[in-house]
Amino acid sequence: MTFSIVELMETQKHEQYALHRRYINPSLARVQTIIGFDKIYVRGEGSYLWDADGNRYLDLLSGYGVFNLGRSHPVAKQAIQDVLTADRPNLVKMDCPLLAGLLAEELVKRMPTGLDAVFFANSGADAVDTALKFARAATNRPRMLYLDDAFHGLTLSTLALNGGMEFRKGFEPLMSGFDAVAMNDLVALENQLRRRDVAALIVEPIQGKGVYIPADNYLPEAQRLCHKYGTLFICDEVQVGMGRTGRFLCCEHWNLEPDIVTLSKSLGGGYVPVSATITRRRIHDATFSALDRCQVHSTTFGQNELAMAAGLATLHVLDEERLIGRSATVGEKLLKGLAALQERYEMIADVRGKGLMIGIEFKAPRSLSLRAAWTAAETARKGLFAQLVVMALMRQHGVLTQVAGPHVNIIKLLPPLIIGDEEVGMIVAAFDAVMAEAAKVGGRVWAQSVQLVEHALKSQV
Ligand SMILES: Cc1ncc(COP(=O)(O)O)c(C=O)c1O
Repeated sequence: MTFSIVELMETQKHEQYALHRRYINPSLARVQTIIGFDKIYVRGEGSYLWDADGNRYLDLLSGYGVFNLGRSHPVAKQAIQDVLTADRPNLVKMDCPLLAGLLAEELVKRMPTGLDAVFFANSGADAVDTALKFARAATNRPRMLYLDDAFHGLTLSTLALNGGMEFRKGFEPLMSGFDAVAMNDLVALENQLRRRDVAALIVEPIQGKGVYIPADNYLPEAQRLCHKYGTLFICDEVQVGMGRTGRFLCCEHWNLEPDIVTLSKSLGGGYVPVSATITRRRIHDATFSALDRCQVHSTTFGQNELAMAAGLATLHVLDEERLIGRSATVGEKLLKGLAALQERYEMIADVRGKGLMIGIEFKAPRSLSLRAAWTAAETARKGLFAQLVVMALMRQHGVLTQVAGPHVNIIKLLPPLIIGDEEVGMIVAAFDAVMAEAAKVGGRVWAQSVQLVEHALKSQV
């Protein structure tokens, strides 16, 4: 019998949720069903997804930020197909593969001065873990600092840098000496750094969890303090890099000169897992400090040719289609359109962001009747209102979004950087309609609330 993946996908497409319930993660499958996200997607192209019934969805989730180029970009696809067709000698391991060298060179060209050594791995958490090891080896210091509300991944080491108890609970003890400091509190930071035992401070220049943007002087000052006390300054650009915020690196907004930068997500063109940790030669070489330590840090699939080809194609497309500038200008339009809604809907507390990373934060309404519905939802689970908005955007407008993290009333938008005026109009109109519904007692947005509250009380959402 011949094997046909196309036939397999076609004949089995209605089994996907049953298979996940049986073999993978039944809780996740159940949540998708409860919130009405249990679609059978069959195609993805550009900024859109299509389901088996031919319905189209505007994807503002972008696979948590991997589709900066949009889905199925022909240049990334072609590069991967060409590598496959050429039967390249992939993953020889005991060699120095060409494509890794070329991608490293292209990345270094886009880095702040002095970041000229690259390590490739497979995921964002991998890149962060690498940065931590590099920092320890280069400083001979044990401790790490991270910011409240930080998210740097969910492996055991990166979890120790995670500001959310909801992620940490059940997995302790985590790494000792990894401590949180509050964003914008430079005194607290200096008090920690003064001990001269901190290897590195790691920051997301804009935090993914709530789209929290630091005060203007915070990151430059934090970097200055780090250098004063011999601590390395790491910018985790896994989500905010690759043009997402209107610059290649988000840290460029503050002219930062980090010691280590991490990249991942859309570096793989939306096709191949890949990450890069980019640092100064001296820091890199402190890990690979002798010939017999040349592989002391390594990962089997690092430098794989499909990922390297996808990375090279992605950087080419970002330049060729001027997507970084587009992210800045289209992002500004979207931010303006959404900010105008804030004037009209009292439950929108804030609209913020840079480029095409935008957060919309909600707050309790003043009207007593609406407040009762809000309080019922929020008492059952903090952040439930944002979830109701996400559900309404999907159900009524085919717009796919996400709540920006557990227990926050913030929706995060991460559209592909290729969106244009048409999509900006669609997004603003969809939010306008949903917020108008939410402003009415008994409006459709609230109709789902009772059911969600029940699930939340049983802790199923
Ligand atoms: C800033 C940041 N760092 C690290 C990670 C972890 O990446 P991964 O999920 O690929 O391990 C993420 C994931 O969302 C992230 O946003």
